[in-house]
Amino acid sequence: MMYTIWRVVGITIGVTAVVGVVVGSLTWGILANRGPPPPELKPLDWWEHTVIYQIYPRSFKDSDGDGIGDLKGISTQLDHLVDIGIGAIWMSPIFVSPMVDFGYDISDFYNIQAEYGTMADFEELVKKAHDLGIKILLDYVPNHASDQSEYFKRSLAREPGYENFFVWADPIIDPNNASNRLVPSNWISEFGGSVWEWSEIRQQYYLHQFAKEQVDFNFRDPAVRNEMLNIMKYWFEKGADGYRLDAVVHLFEADPNDHGGVYPDEPLSGNMFLNPDQAGYTTQEYTKHLIELYDVLYDWREFADGWKDENNSETKILLAEAYANITMTMLYYGVEGGRDGAHFPFNFELINSLSAKSSARDFVYVIKRWLTYMPSGRVANWVFGNHDKNRMPSRFRTNMVDGLNSLSMLLPGVAITYQGEEIGMRDGYVSWEDTVDVAACNQGNPDNYLEYSRDPARTPFHWDNTTNAGFSTNSTTWLPIALDYTEINLKAQKEAKRSHYKVYKSLISLRKQPALSHGSYHIQALSENTFILIRHLITHDTYALLFNVGSEDDTVDLDNVTLLREPLTVYASSVHSSRVDGDTVPWGERGRVTLQAGEAIVLRAPPT
Ligand code: GLC
Ligand code: MG
Ligand code: CA
Repeated sequence: MMYTIWRVVGITIGVTAVVGVVVGSLTWGILANRGPPPPELKPLDWWEHTVIYQIYPRSFKDSDGDGIGDLKGISTQLDHLVDIGIGAIWMSPIFVSPMVDFGYDISDFYNIQAEYGTMADFEELVKKAHDLGIKILLDYVPNHASDQSEYFKRSLAREPGYENFFVWADPIIDPNNASNRLVPSNWISEFGGSVWEWSEIRQQYYLHQFAKEQVDFNFRDPAVRNEMLNIMKYWFEKGADGYRLDAVVHLFEADPNDHGGVYPDEPLSGNMFLNPDQAGYTTQEYTKHLIELYDVLYDWREFADGWKDENNSETKILLAEAYANITMTMLYYGVEGGRDGAHFPFNFELINSLSAKSSARDFVYVIKRWLTYMPSGRVANWVFGNHDKNRMPSRFRTNMVDGLNSLSMLLPGVAITYQGEEIGMRDGYVSWEDTVDVAACNQGNPDNYLEYSRDPARTPFHWDNTTNAGFSTNSTTWLPIALDYTEINLKAQKEAKRSHYKVYKSLISLRKQPALSHGSYHIQALSENTFILIRHLITHDTYALLFNVGSEDDTVDLDNVTLLREPLTVYASSVHSSRVDGDTVPWGERGRVTLQAGEAIVLRAPPT
């Protein structure tokens, strides 16, 4: 009774902190004779334990029937995102672009691509999402601009202030033939071929780490760095809650001033599986991971924090896309005891280092690797897919979808979902004729294009089993719909008794449990193919994921697992599991549990 009154008073006068203390001490009183006090749950900032959902806007939902997803489409489907329980969306670029790299070649950083909608549509989306408690993260593409951008046009014309906006270099004169022009260095672009493209107008080469239509900014020019802050500020003012920072490993290239006035050639990497015009044929030591880039990134963080303080806003987050070795990756977090960097660099270990072939020990090792190298006090994150990589069930096995989704939800820190993972969408089939990805078109041919193509991971979302999977009413769509949409679609999974969607949703809601938001983690291989992940917080229920990542039945022994005690009840299980929610899992004869291939079960155990 008294408790109720205090709570009411607390709410009325807005002193919620007082309530916390009162309730805390009451509970403490009750438990005082039984052991240690319940841990205080440190309040988390909005992003620290959220689920971020990546939307590839072209493929999410088409509202105007042109076969291309758009902002209104996203606005109309926010219910789905509220329903599954995500906290933020990150949208791949929505800015004006000739679409050579589908938005990653921006020609106007301050406006919305017409086929995606208008500024008003964007503002409406932000408002609707915020009203629903969903944060909006934009894609920030600092490394390059479209060759159609005003910046590039001005730089081409050597307009004052823009001469050095991009990386321009004079040709090298062929010592054997003076009329022959040679590229400044042997550097190779990520999409194949030289990074250097000749400009007749400037009679110079410009540098591009990606397609020749994506011209690299010159980050040694303070005017460029300043313009980047203007862009960041502009979208903060429009309500963006943060940015995903695109391709930041490429921000700098070696400076000729440090190399006797020339762009130094890179040694060959010795990788015999690559062609001479493929990225990685040379070491990339002068074109990636240059140490200068970190200061620029730390400046961005300072700017974002400063903006937040000045405007008294919630935290604006920065997430770095950096495919780098573990040490260089961790440096994106910032320097221990020094400057802060991104709120986190994406963790691509689960994509790069795990596959259908991985054992339970591989999973444990790869997961622990991130947590081991992560600087203290930072927030982890878990990524199983994005618009650049084959879809998660296609890289692993389709019967692992629920286990993998459960894993990302149970691990500490932020979970990231690429659109479609919640229903187990697989790679779509895209013929060579239908292929539009510049990476595949530039480097591939009808026989090998799938090695390069990112289109299979970008086919439209499957809403239902009607025409075009409910994505668009147009007769064609920008990429074909994956053929399996009649089986794998949201509507069917909502109706089914068991589905990936239902497992996903129940796992997100489990994240409210203190053991998941604040608990410790323990992960261990119980056999070659089965591992257990336990989330534990004293005085709260314990949760554990048991996951057989192998392709055969596996029996494991729970006897030596500490922190778990009976009764163990099933909180969730893979769709193909014979166990249903609420089942108790008997320790059986000496704690043995058998899991089918790919089966995962999430168990609840009483507090220890
Ligand atoms: C990032 C994007 C990718 C794009 C590249 C160039 O890696 O994820 O889609 O092609 O940067 O912007
Ligand atoms: Mg459209
Ligand atoms: Ca660059």
